[in-house]
Amino acid sequence: MAAKVRKAVFPVAGQGTRFLPATKVVPKEMLPIVDKPLIQYAVEEAKEAGIEEFIFVDSRGKTMIANHFDYNPELEDALFAKGKHELLKKVQESTLPSGLAAYTRQEKALGLGHAIWCARKFIANEPFAVLLPDDLFFYTPNCLKQLVDEYERTGGYLLAVHDIPVEDTNKYGVLKIAKDDGLTVTAEILVEKPKPEEAPSNVAVAGRYILSPEIFEALEKKAIGSGGEIQLTDAITSSLGKVTCTGLRFKGKRFDCGTMEGWLEANLYVGLQREDSRDLLTAYLEKLGFSRENKDSDF
Ligand code: UTP
Repeated sequence: MAAKVRKAVFPVAGQGTRFLPATKVVPKEMLPIVDKPLIQYAVEEAKEAGIEEFIFVDSRGKTMIANHFDYNPELEDALFAKGKHELLKKVQESTLPSGLAAYTRQEKALGLGHAIWCARKFIANEPFAVLLPDDLFFYTPNCLKQLVDEYERTGGYLLAVHDIPVEDTNKYGVLKIAKDDGLTVTAEILVEKPKPEEAPSNVAVAGRYILSPEIFEALEKKAIGSGGEIQLTDAITSSLGKVTCTGLRFKGKRFDCGTMEGWLEANLYVGLQREDSRDLLTAYLEKLGFSRENKDSDF
């Protein structure tokens, strides 16, 4: 049986240029979907999937993320004194217990692969999860939990994958597939952002991974790939002789909140799901001329 996945890495050192000027000071990962920052959705997903240790790879200007997960006595005291117990609960739920969160620096944004390499000493010698906080997933069980459950069977590298329109392959890491049983695929290689006409398939990686320490040997080479960055997909490919790589077609919705379109859609989706905003938002959309046949259905 594969070892338990106890640790998760959250790469949060990117520059978030697609969201400038919002991200000039505020980290992209702190942008809220309705009233909760993206990074908190990812941490909650990891907790629910059984993760016990949380490793953040951050950079200058991202200390807001560590502060977000820290204890804030002044705020808690003020909310308590005013009897705002619901809000107090929300604040307390966003705190990570002492000693279970670690923060390390990626000095230069050299790419996702390099960011993961920066976490190597914290991972040491066990499998670990990677969550890209700008990818937001909704389903029960959540996306990482689906991977953790499947990992008991597969071991090796296990990636969340989905079928994408062929014209979008240049936005993703794409798998060349050796075997496909409908739910899982076995990857032969991964290609980062191939042109549609050169893509080996339309099965693409989404922002949830389970990896094993072999990835660090590959990342150690610091090979420069697509976009001049050290790519995680290249490191996965280069260790495939030693480790198997399986893709799990995750169930549920995914929003790419690293793009304005995905971020706006996610806000609408969550706003229309939540009881405290659904009616207000629906009324506003109807006023604008949009209608929903069935207000309670998923969309
Ligand atoms: P993106 O590819 O979305 O890059 O990173 P980005 O820099 O955040 O955003 P744009 O493209 O400039 O708009 C995906 C995830 O990987 C992290 C980011 O913080 C984000 O969570 N990342 C990316 C790093 O930690 N380091 C890097 O060098 C690159």
